[in-house]
Amino acid sequence: HKKVVRRITCVGAGYVGGPTCAMIANKCPHITVTVVDMNQAKIDEWNSDSLPIFEPGLEEIVMKCRGTNLFFSSDVPQAIRDADLIFISVNTPTKMYGKGKGMAPDLKYVESVARSIAEHAEGPKIVVEKSTVPVKAAESILSILRDAQRTNNNLTFQVLSNPEFLAEGTAMRDLSNPDRVLIGGEDSEEGAKAVAALVEVYESWVPRERIITTNTWSSELSKLVANAFLAQRISSINSVSAICEATGADVSEVAHAVGFDTRIGNKFLNASVGFGGSCFQKDVLSLVYLCESLHLNKAAEYWHGVIEINNWQRRRFADKIVAELFNTVAGKKIAVFGFAFKKNTGDTRESSAIHVCKHLMEEQANLHIYDPKVTESQMRSELAIESSEKNVTKLVTVHSDPYEAAKDAHAVVILTEWDEFKTYDYSRIFNSMVHPAALFDGRLLLKKKEMESIGFRFFGIGTAP
Ligand code: NAD
Ligand code: UGA
Repeated sequence: HKKVVRRITCVGAGYVGGPTCAMIANKCPHITVTVVDMNQAKIDEWNSDSLPIFEPGLEEIVMKCRGTNLFFSSDVPQAIRDADLIFISVNTPTKMYGKGKGMAPDLKYVESVARSIAEHAEGPKIVVEKSTVPVKAAESILSILRDAQRTNNNLTFQVLSNPEFLAEGTAMRDLSNPDRVLIGGEDSEEGAKAVAALVEVYESWVPRERIITTNTWSSELSKLVANAFLAQRISSINSVSAICEATGADVSEVAHAVGFDTRIGNKFLNASVGFGGSCFQKDVLSLVYLCESLHLNKAAEYWHGVIEINNWQRRRFADKIVAELFNTVAGKKIAVFGFAFKKNTGDTRESSAIHVCKHLMEEQANLHIYDPKVTESQMRSELAIESSEKNVTKLVTVHSDPYEAAKDAHAVVILTEWDEFKTYDYSRIFNSMVHPAALFDGRLLLKKKEMESIGFRFFGIGTAP
């Protein structure tokens, strides 16, 4: 049996396009994979010794496959002409203008890829939405592609939905051993053929029973719903954390007891200072916007609650810091441990740390920030967007040593769950601080009793003081 797909092009060399294509190239030696991007600097990095993103295991695979059956290029037209199958893996950020501002995803990048395909394709193509998009996005892509068919009889297009479920920091593990792969296609003979062609690609390493095929709209919607459910679990446990702080129940114990029910499950129940990352908020808002567009206002309100709780949790934590530091942090040194949106990544997009820092800066605190992976310029530019360049210059110091960050501070605030934060010498930290010294654990990393015996006033999310 001759394999249908021999040449894959992926438009968008970001967090999803890069790792996904590296995995396909690694698992499918018979397929040539080309990843293209309009950002030449990013492509140059993919072709260098220092890749533009950090994911455990990624570099090894890229170094192994690059130049053999994995290529990074900025020649988008050529890559489109060459491909049997094209992944659209461009960003779909929340729209910051016009209709749906602050809610709807911006589909201009997806559309521009569809237009490039329409312009440069010379033969049949399977076009695959890998980006997270609202329901019916495939219809718009298809309308643009079908228009090109009018003038060129050689062109046939099928549009599939194949959302990505990888999480940052574990991308390679998630890709090599996914819970499931989801492929949605048109309910027709041609649609079924296209779906089968993509199934065949994944079957090179994913067991067939974990490859789910559905109609296009179910697949598009399932991606939004999966992220909404995950975000909802975090907001649920975070709402419970507030109850715990007020009653003496302990959120870890509650999560453990509740999660033991196999129907509920024990994963994704870690209370925190709020979820961050480029996708949860964007995708929940996209779902809310979809509900509103369909005049399903109750459903919209329901899902919007997930975002409201998240914002509330961030604010609550910042307010708690100010309250417990005797209602004023102005001019006080506060050490911040962690700026990334989660551990094992340098990504800061929508990180809760940004919001907590912003609140503390409004109170004129002097922030001394340490993160093992986030660069100083990245922290400064994120905070300048939320506050101002002037404020950042005045109030923010970035450290490469956590002990330096904590020296002479009134409080240490933990915002990312980096493993190394558990291993520090907290007695040394305590002794170097201004007393009474407070420790605010936004990630349930440290043991209250242990920290209190050192001398800290300890405040953990979801634990009564
Ligand atoms: P990203 O910003 O890291 O990468 C997108 C890339 O697309 C950028 O490098 C950009 O230059 C490029 N691009 C945009 N328009 C282009 C065009 N017309 N031609 C060529 N290149 C173009 O984004 P990402 O994090 O990889 O996310 C991509 C999509 O995948 C989003 O829809 C996101 O919601 C979804 N997703 C992301 C994750 C994740 O963990 N980051 C996980 C699952 C799904
Ligand atoms: C998430 C999903 O887990 C992926 O399946 C999905 O593909 C991806 O979004 C996407 O669509 O982009 P990611 O954002 O990389 O992946 O990271 P997560 O591990 O889901 O963490 C998101 C945020 O929730 C982080 O800030 C994390 O610290 C927080 N979180 C997670 C909690 O506060 N508590 C938990 O129990 C779990």
